Amino acid sequence: MLILGLETSCDETGVALYDTERGLLADALFSQVDIHVEYGGVVPELASRDHIRKTLPLVEEVLARAGCAASQIEGVAYTAGPGLVGALMVGATLARALAWGWGVPALGVHHMEGHLLAPMLEEDHPEYPFVALLVSGGHTQLVRVDAIGQYRILGESLDDAAGEAFDKVAKMLGLPYPGGPHVARLAQRGTPGRFTFPRPMVNRPGLDFSFSGLKTHTLNTVAECTVAGELSEQDKCDIALAFEEAVVATLVIKCRRALRQEQLKTLVIAGGVSANTNLREQLSRALAKEGGRVFYPAPRFCTDNGAMIAYAGAQRLLAGQVDAAASPVRPRWPMEELPPLTAGVEG
Ligand code: KG4
Ligand code: ZN
Repeated sequence: MLILGLETSCDETGVALYDTERGLLADALFSQVDIHVEYGGVVPELASRDHIRKTLPLVEEVLARAGCAASQIEGVAYTAGPGLVGALMVGATLARALAWGWGVPALGVHHMEGHLLAPMLEEDHPEYPFVALLVSGGHTQLVRVDAIGQYRILGESLDDAAGEAFDKVAKMLGLPYPGGPHVARLAQRGTPGRFTFPRPMVNRPGLDFSFSGLKTHTLNTVAECTVAGELSEQDKCDIALAFEEAVVATLVIKCRRALRQEQLKTLVIAGGVSANTNLREQLSRALAKEGGRVFYPAPRFCTDNGAMIAYAGAQRLLAGQVDAAASPVRPRWPMEELPPLTAGVEG
């Protein structure tokens, strides 16, 4: 089954063609970073308008790259939530209009399910069941995954998401949005051991996270190091490293705890922050010691992309799920409300 996938939930327009027999045929991405950078964050209305401009040309691009005709497409999947409502509506409207015009089914996909399943695009992918750590700009969640649509949230952030904390610390250090990769780059030049930041909530039982205290601690350290309104380059690198180490150590502790609790050995990490090299290395090392293994998507499929939406949609469309006639986008959408694959027609 050949599926077109559209992702427009935030500031990236992602389009991909996935075939359930042949795998990923083509994918294309346009990042709006340059549009939003001068505002220090995503401006929702600008995001929606740019999705309108970019989505159809990207659909044509993936068709051309895959050497496919539109008439071969057998279903259209799009991100229906969670995300920015205007941006979601652009993708939903285009996807449903294309599907209607082509006489094929459309299906709204959960953005975080897309992230969660992104490692399945890799040749070497995990078997169910596993524990997934979803770390993006809007979510930090530990999820037990028994099959597609069988999700149990084990823990989540009580305040900021991990990516959001990276972005806010980046702002404190005068780095551009989106801050995560910039903080990670500075951290590589940090002096190990100069600062040790608190590891939030690790001494409390349970699997929830909280990053606001760590953020305040970082802000206080920035203030202490600032002399005559200036923070030296080395101070920035050292603070970035201490912050990154604290986030990574916290995530590693909670992932190990979740695996122990669920008596599982397989961990999946996905979402923008899973692109962080330090996190990948430390998780791999910690799990290897316990006979476990961590799987993650290719770096380009860690952040928002169309391939993960095409993949997740393809599995559900193949199982016969299609959108109801009236199918709204859902800016807020608990993942545990998703149906399992065997539930048949949705809506
Ligand atoms: O999954 P994603 O592309 O979008 C959402 O659905 O939120 O995640 C974006 C987040 C941003 O907060 C960004 O700063 C963070 O992922 N991020 C990183 C890295 N690359 C992206 N954080 C830490 N280290 C990275 N290398
Ligand atoms: Zn995302």
